[in-house]
Amino acid sequence: MAATLLPSLSPPVSRAAAAAAFLILRRAPPKRFPSHHPPFLRRFLASSPSPPTIPPGLRPIATMSSAEVAARAFPARPDILMLGIETSCDDTAAAVVRGDGEILSQVVSSQADLLARYGGVAPKMAEEAHALVIDQVVQKALDDANLSESDLSAVSVTIGPGLGLCLRVGVHKARKIAKEFGLPIVGVHHMEAHALVSRIVNKDLDFPFLGLLISGGHNLLVLAHGLGQYVQLGTTIDDAIGEAYDKSARWLGLDIRKGGGPALEELALEGDSEAIKFRVPMRQHKDCNFSYAGLKTQVRLAIESLNLCTEDIPISSASEEDRQSRANIAASFQRVAVLHLEERCQRAVEWALKMEPSIKYFVVSGGVASNKYVRIRLNHVAENNGLQLVTPPPSLCTDNGVMIAWTGIEHFVAGRFDNPPAADEPDDMQYELRPRWPLGEEYSEGRSVARSMKTARIHPSLTSMIKAYDDGTDPIQCQVASQTRPIRCLVYGSSEQVGTLRCCYKNNGTILHANLTLHEQYLQKVHQQKWRSI
Ligand code: KG4
Ligand code: ZN
Repeated sequence: MAATLLPSLSPPVSRAAAAAAFLILRRAPPKRFPSHHPPFLRRFLASSPSPPTIPPGLRPIATMSSAEVAARAFPARPDILMLGIETSCDDTAAAVVRGDGEILSQVVSSQADLLARYGGVAPKMAEEAHALVIDQVVQKALDDANLSESDLSAVSVTIGPGLGLCLRVGVHKARKIAKEFGLPIVGVHHMEAHALVSRIVNKDLDFPFLGLLISGGHNLLVLAHGLGQYVQLGTTIDDAIGEAYDKSARWLGLDIRKGGGPALEELALEGDSEAIKFRVPMRQHKDCNFSYAGLKTQVRLAIESLNLCTEDIPISSASEEDRQSRANIAASFQRVAVLHLEERCQRAVEWALKMEPSIKYFVVSGGVASNKYVRIRLNHVAENNGLQLVTPPPSLCTDNGVMIAWTGIEHFVAGRFDNPPAADEPDDMQYELRPRWPLGEEYSEGRSVARSMKTARIHPSLTSMIKAYDDGTDPIQCQVASQTRPIRCLVYGSSEQVGTLRCCYKNNGTILHANLTLHEQYLQKVHQQKWRSI
């Protein structure tokens, strides 16, 4: 049945206004508690001789001053039981967390096998994989916590950013439970959840703090002023560091069934991190933005120039010499990838302290934060600046249900939640999801460079590092040294001039570098072609 309604998952805003959603919510009128009181409210009301409509400590956020909201300390509400559901990318996760931060259960079903097979997340397949296991994952989370749905206070679920098809599976499940058991729902921002899970780990961690969130799809530097209040100091202009780890691991022929990042980290331990002189990205840009597409290309070129047959020979069958070369590439990549983080973080600390001199903590979270080398290097950055590094344990750095449940608790306590779905809500209702959903406002000092580069990204002549996807049947024609012939090329840079690309290409096994002038008609074709960054 086609849905006629578009219910919101806290807050109710249009897709276009999604980026500013939290701000809009804060200005919304105070919500009334639902007529179906959540269990903890029911418990409170039952034990109170003259029950207030709103229990102490649970004032809706709109009645609090902004200073109160910003300085919100750890909520510590042991009476709250929150189920968290996460399906934004390739992990199906659920957890039950108590309002004082106690983790009662945590279940993750990974799609690593699919990832290894297809070399990336294929949305349709990921959606099917989520749909296949979501019921079991949630049931196990409840069983492990020795609870049933009726014991819960509310349900939290990721509503963005992420893959729309995948988000929908989690949201559908959350609404189904919420409808059946009359539970409020909290719609959670995936990246905020990566940041806030640190507050379970370190209960003294209070706002404001500086956060670096590094995952497969995001590279964010944020100043966290308060719950739902972030200033974006930097972001990636192309790929995130996790994507660079994943692709490099694949090209090096590693066993990526347990994830590209961990596989590369392990091999890097055997290598010489100075062996290959990769360039550190974006040094000329004095901002806090990131770029990893170019480093990916450098890895690819290093593999090609050493004539390593990584596609045909997995690392397990490589000769000793071959393995050493791959380890050197891995270690050199990791050193430069993390040096890029360090440099941007150092500048971000300076920017953040200028705005908020009281900052004491530097939070590093997201999948890549489980990397030991990353943690050690960023601890230096923190210490050199008199900050304390807070990094969740690896199981809470990678995608998990705990971070969603916890962030749900924080917003729930602040009064930000949706009432339980109506009993007659159809099962095939279309929900509002937020696949592209920035975490915060851009910091003005970081804006100019990031903007111009982001705008440039849509134009091939300014695309930082891309590979023309060519299946051999329809090659891109380029003019190389006055010859016109079909080639496969790796684009590793671009000139300012429209239609001219610096690239390298293979000619009888030799890698040549050239400035290519794309014919006008092919430039058009390049735009339309499937481009795949490498
Ligand atoms: O946060 P996350 O689990 O999912 C996203 O939101 O993307 O992050 C996944 C990313 C993947 O790119 C994975 O390879 C990377 O985190 N990762 C690591 C490590 N563990 C996971 N990267 C480097 N070293 C690791 N040990
Ligand atoms: Zn994530």
